[in-house]
Amino acid sequence: CGIVGYIGDKDASSILMAGLNKLEYRGYDSAGIALYQQDQIEVCKRVGKLDNLEELVADKDPQGQVGIGHTRWATHGKPSTPNAHPHTGCEGEFVIVHNGIIENYLSLKEELLQQGHDFSSETDTEVLVHLLEEHYTGDLAETVRRVAAKLEGSYAFVALTVNEPDRLIAVRQDSPLIVGLNDGEYFVASDIPAILEHTDEVYILDDGEMAVVTKAGVNLSTIEGEPVDKDIFTVDWNPGMAEKAGYDHFMLKEIHEQPEALRRAISGRLSIDNQEVILDELKLSSEELAGYERIYIVACGTAYHSGLVAKYLIEDLVKIPVEVDIASEFRYRDPLVSQDTLVIVVSQSGETADTLAAVREAQDKGARVLAISNVVGSTIPREADDVIYIHAGPEIAVASTKAYINMLMVFYLLAIRLAQIKESISQEKAVELIADLKNIPNQAAQIIKDSEELFKEFAGDYAEHENAFFIGRGLDYAVALEGALKLKEISYLHAASYPAGELKHGTLALIEEDVPVVALATQKSVLDKTLSNIQEVQARGASVTGVVLNKKEEVVDALDHVIEIPETEELLTSILTVIPLQLLAYYVAVEKGCDVDQPRNLAKSVTVE
Ligand code: G6P
Repeated sequence: CGIVGYIGDKDASSILMAGLNKLEYRGYDSAGIALYQQDQIEVCKRVGKLDNLEELVADKDPQGQVGIGHTRWATHGKPSTPNAHPHTGCEGEFVIVHNGIIENYLSLKEELLQQGHDFSSETDTEVLVHLLEEHYTGDLAETVRRVAAKLEGSYAFVALTVNEPDRLIAVRQDSPLIVGLNDGEYFVASDIPAILEHTDEVYILDDGEMAVVTKAGVNLSTIEGEPVDKDIFTVDWNPGMAEKAGYDHFMLKEIHEQPEALRRAISGRLSIDNQEVILDELKLSSEELAGYERIYIVACGTAYHSGLVAKYLIEDLVKIPVEVDIASEFRYRDPLVSQDTLVIVVSQSGETADTLAAVREAQDKGARVLAISNVVGSTIPREADDVIYIHAGPEIAVASTKAYINMLMVFYLLAIRLAQIKESISQEKAVELIADLKNIPNQAAQIIKDSEELFKEFAGDYAEHENAFFIGRGLDYAVALEGALKLKEISYLHAASYPAGELKHGTLALIEEDVPVVALATQKSVLDKTLSNIQEVQARGASVTGVVLNKKEEVVDALDHVIEIPETEELLTSILTVIPLQLLAYYVAVEKGCDVDQPRNLAKSVTVE
């Protein structure tokens, strides 16, 4: 879900709506705003996309200079207008927007019902606003403190009351919240893009902190009331980075931004003579890094898939075992990590609740945690012991593209760095890899150009099917998993990915006439084996699209469609191989008329477990 709040001299309604627009990727099953208007609170909320709310706001035309807004990704209670935020209490004097989950809301609700409160939604959030109403002391900040003491769970919320219309009270506990600062106006938001067009100066609230925001300034304290002194954080993104810039969708724009994003990820991380990878941001010394004999990589979704690629790289180059785990599994199964394990967590947003819980679990067990993330100042990098930022720039489309390849780029850099420290590869090999890596951004640009036209042409063939299969061996298999996820996420086609050699052990039964199969065949060492697997599916009637390293005739002849990856070191192919798969998913989704940037049921950043 996304939160935005405003207090100043301008028209709050348009500022809140613009902020929600930037946050829609956070959840889009319903949205709403509430403004203080002539001694009362005016709420506009609607189920569905923001367009629905826009109509209502245009109709009601609420006026005011202070207000809060929310875009929702349903947890408690189905998507509906009553369940949409903001929520008001019985008398309509208090209003609240909230992210996260109040775990003890049922018992709190029970008490409130006995005290005579009526509820109009099924949400945990509504309990919060009734609590404010019930316990109001005449001082909203003080009341919020009292109410917060009763809550269990994770939350970020912003409250407003008609009794003190000159202030917003914002509280953070395990769910991100920032306060944006400008001359005579202040903003509250769950994410930077919501306020980026107004200011790049923010306070990042920590867990257990609250802000009293008025037109005159911001007062920071802990929830218990201890004053907090905090540095202003300057965001290094510019507003243009969060715009579509002429592309039909953010996803397409972000695919096209990949070469530039990759250059940013490499920039400043190679020695001047290109002999060495430098990761200055690590607090870990070379000796400490060299000391680890085991690595655990933990993440969710696409970030998890980047970890699967990293396993191949690190095991190949550094010769130490790497385990990759899904964060929601890792934390609940007493993972075997200790002081001797380097735990690497990967998260684009830096806010995914499951991944954050894994950070804490690993640290509790004594492991050192290195975060790989995109959002500077987000929670996971701040809690981790070390961080490497991927510098992909803001990623708005729910389906991740440029963040994924920049995660891969950072893993390549890290793997080479580790291999250099541990001397597990020759210096000559390291220099070759670095040279090839530097070339990857240009090759990425080339492959976008080459594959885009092709996919525009035949995406329609895929759109007619209900199933697709992705196969590959080694690194190709890791990338195939991401390709299948992209197709599922945005085009709602069922897609499954298998190691090419595993098909014959069951899945081959599903291959029949015309079934689309995407075969990745960029790993020279297993090329012949992969080709045999391609023939196996073709013999059963499959239509095969191949992503190949170079157009060897025997490869090309066997395929229905071919995408060629420019020549590079076998180990570095993954960044390039995934690009055609992203474009395939994109054009199939467009062909099917799907909502590419905001696929059904999903959200970009999931801050609940
Ligand atoms: C959500 C998104 C996925 C993303 C995953 C992990 O489920 O829809 O696209 O890969 O979260 O997000 P993170 O921000 O931790 O990388």
